[in-house]
Amino acid sequence: LELQLNLEQIEKGGYEHFMLKEIYEQPRAILDTYRGRLLSQQGLIKMAGIDQNLEKFQNANRIIIVACGTSWHAGLVAEYIFEDLARIPVEVEYASEFRYRNPVITDKDVLIAISQSGETADTLAAIKLAKEKGAFVFGVCNVVGSSIARETDAGAYTHAGPEIGVASTKAFTTQITVLMLIALKLAMKKGIFSQSKFHEFLTELENIPSKVEQTLKQDKLVKEIAAVYKDSPNCLYLGRGYNFPVALEGALKLKEISYIHAEGYPAAEMKHGPIALIDEQMPVIVIAPKKGHYEKLISNIQEIKSRKGKIIAVVTEGDTSIRELADHVIGIPDTLESLTPLLTTIPLQLLSYHIAVMRGCNVDQPRNLAKSVTVE
Ligand code: G6P
Repeated sequence: LELQLNLEQIEKGGYEHFMLKEIYEQPRAILDTYRGRLLSQQGLIKMAGIDQNLEKFQNANRIIIVACGTSWHAGLVAEYIFEDLARIPVEVEYASEFRYRNPVITDKDVLIAISQSGETADTLAAIKLAKEKGAFVFGVCNVVGSSIARETDAGAYTHAGPEIGVASTKAFTTQITVLMLIALKLAMKKGIFSQSKFHEFLTELENIPSKVEQTLKQDKLVKEIAAVYKDSPNCLYLGRGYNFPVALEGALKLKEISYIHAEGYPAAEMKHGPIALIDEQMPVIVIAPKKGHYEKLISNIQEIKSRKGKIIAVVTEGDTSIRELADHVIGIPDTLESLTPLLTTIPLQLLSYHIAVMRGCNVDQPRNLAKSVTVE
């Protein structure tokens, strides 16, 4: 037993929990994801699974993304990325719903299945269904040689390294990285991007690991904020556009490991329901980088403030307008709007981690949850 404990400590590499280690591994994991694929000197992205099947993607009527849990949130981010950058219609589905709702699938559809483990039963079943109907099926998995990796027609691994913590962290950011690479490649091939715009994206993607590193420096501040709200029974997460899925993911992380009830919402939907919940007890995490929707998010923040909600805002460094309104602000470096999820998600992971630790929860193995759900 002692030997086993020591082994586990070595595996945690000096971190108290796997989850924290994996959060801190993200700069490296993202780099490993695009290493050898993003060739900025040559101005190109090389991905065998896409290169060999380019026509399928270029001629696709639409892309259907299926996934579960955190991977489904990465799929939602990808929906924004693919539609915005590559102008391909995208539908994102929970694999469990897709497989049972007699979906319309044709051989002009491309289905992308996202799965860290590559073993999720519902996602695997959705793939089999799509294949039967003639769709081209592409996998985005982390675990090499997993069932989903084997079952798909082609794919791209995330190369995040083993993820042990049940709450997914580096799998999420590396999934977004892979999907971004695919979208950029298609945008270029379809002639939507000029070489200079393409280059701008490649360069900025290469800056992401160091910007994640910089964001991780907010850990101490995030821990202080966690101490203030650790006993809250509820928590609301709001974001718009590219950061709406990040709000969902932030809420999922908190409920998974701290057992605090949390909900993620598109900020503009607040007025259709969640606003009724806001009082002086309610922490509201608003993801508000200085990008599209910024002014609208300020209005949302004012609405929360006038109802005495507590505001924790994730903002672009140097932001002063939100600083005046919010109770706490966490700064992230500036980047392209479509890449902000890779940064805004970091403080939310840290926040749920610290709250869970302070509440004495089993961070790496939360109650009732499994790392990989291989049954229905
Ligand atoms: C479980 C895990 C989640 C994960 C989901 C999908 O619920 O606890 O962290 O996001 O399965 O897993 P997958 O391996 O398919 O990404």
